[in-house]
Amino acid sequence: MQSSTLSQIPFSRKILATALLLVLSIAFALGYLNTLLSYAQADGEQGFSPVSDLKAAFAEPRFAVMVRGPMAKNAGPDVETLFEWAMRGGPEAEYKTTIQPAMKKRNCAKCHNGFEQVSLATYQDIQPLLQKGKPVKQLGDLSHSHLFGIGLALAVIACIFSCTGLSERVKAWFIGLAYGALLCDIGSWWGAKFLSPGFVYLLMVAGAVTVLCVTVMVLGSLLSLWRPHPSAASPS
Ligand code: HEC
Repeated sequence: MQSSTLSQIPFSRKILATALLLVLSIAFALGYLNTLLSYAQADGEQGFSPVSDLKAAFAEPRFAVMVRGPMAKNAGPDVETLFEWAMRGGPEAEYKTTIQPAMKKRNCAKCHNGFEQVSLATYQDIQPLLQKGKPVKQLGDLSHSHLFGIGLALAVIACIFSCTGLSERVKAWFIGLAYGALLCDIGSWWGAKFLSPGFVYLLMVAGAVTVLCVTVMVLGSLLSLWRPHPSAASPS
């Protein structure tokens, strides 16, 4: 590392920069923990298995996920019929001929009577559960808040990181990668819903790249801030 401008800034600004870096690191860590906890059972199975949980949350219809998961025992031998129908978007033509009779046979209405559980009595009842992944409105809200929040949090971290004595090329790479990963992260939610479930792999890579970039930028900045500097005066 070359001589760093960060190790020479006034003591109060070092404290400010350190506090910001720590608070934002905690915010990032909590964001990932929250993702882990809220999607752990998205595929209907206990525990976080990234591919199937993220596919269930972002790319598959809730009806299909539930029928294959927690409702499988209720659906018995009709699991495949119901699952496969929902994965194809639940064509209405087949509802009357195949799906409604199967659900009647399996007595889904025993619990899904509109009191204990949502009613699944008509095609209109089921329709909201047939759309892939999250509703557009929810994805829009999530995208907006993530782009704003993470975009600004990265800006603070990147600003501090850009004042370290690392080479401009290295700094530019990590800053660019962090923002690129953010765009891929949000973009892959939409890709998984509208283009292909395979976008969950991009989602995972983007998440990992963000963790890497934030870790490097925060640790690099902290080291640069608190590294003893030959010409640094004692705190005043
Ligand atoms: C013994 C009662 C019971 C039976 C029978 C039952 N379910 Fe369920 N179902 C539940 C419960 C409880 C939940 C809520 C579980 C949860 O959210 O994790 C649920 C949730 C669902 C959901 C998700 C609803 C939502 O709003 O997210 C779907 C879809 C579903 N069941 C489909 C079916 C189908 C299809 C059948 C028949 C093959 C069926 N269920 C039979 C109890 C039942």
